[in-house]
Amino acid sequence: MSEEPVVVREATLRDLPDMMSVFRRGYAREPKPAMMRELIERFPCAVALNDNKISGFAYSRQATPGALELLNLLVLTEMRDCGIGTKLLSLTERTASQLGYETLVLYVSLFYGVAGSKRSPVPFYTANGFQVQAISSSEFFCWKSLSN
Ligand SMILES: CC(C)(COP(=O)(O)OP(=O)(O)OC[C@H]1O[C@@H](n2cnc3c(N)ncnc32)[C@H](O)[C@@H]1OP(=O)(O)O)[C@@H](O)C(=O)NCCC(=O)NCCS
Repeated sequence: MSEEPVVVREATLRDLPDMMSVFRRGYAREPKPAMMRELIERFPCAVALNDNKISGFAYSRQATPGALELLNLLVLTEMRDCGIGTKLLSLTERTASQLGYETLVLYVSLFYGVAGSKRSPVPFYTANGFQVQAISSSEFFCWKSLSN
């Protein structure tokens, strides 16, 4: 990885093509650009940049008036374990809190195909202060209060 510090900021529509490219590399399938565009415009969406290139993103949507649902958090395989995912999550939490959301929620499905990763992301979320409830052996509901 480069020596340049990672920059994490809110996404703009100009980031959409690079986000789609990261999505393709991460999931080995096609993203849905219309949906991603709408999420960037309407809800908190964070990108991480290394040397001005997007290395990861986090996008979300409103689940209920008080709860924001994190729909996707992805860091390029070669950039993982350097703190980028944590920074993307922190910015999402901060923005969500500023917008008045009280809770950040998400679903983890271990069958949701992620290229190059067999690790469960659940420990990542518990390390970041989320409560976890198993829905089945492969699906988990995670939530975190944003009030403190
Ligand atoms: C999960 C993910 C976003 C984490 O991003 P990251 O930049 O690697 O995370 P960080 O470097 O900030 O934190 C990694 C920490 O979480 C822990 N961890 C636990 N499970 C992990 C996992 N599946 N992936 C990465 N880290 C994991 C690491 O051990 C590390 O802890 P440490 O700092 O004490 O060593 C990234 O691995 C990823 O994109 N995975 C594939 C997509 C995915 O599963 N997304 C979540 C969908 S719900």
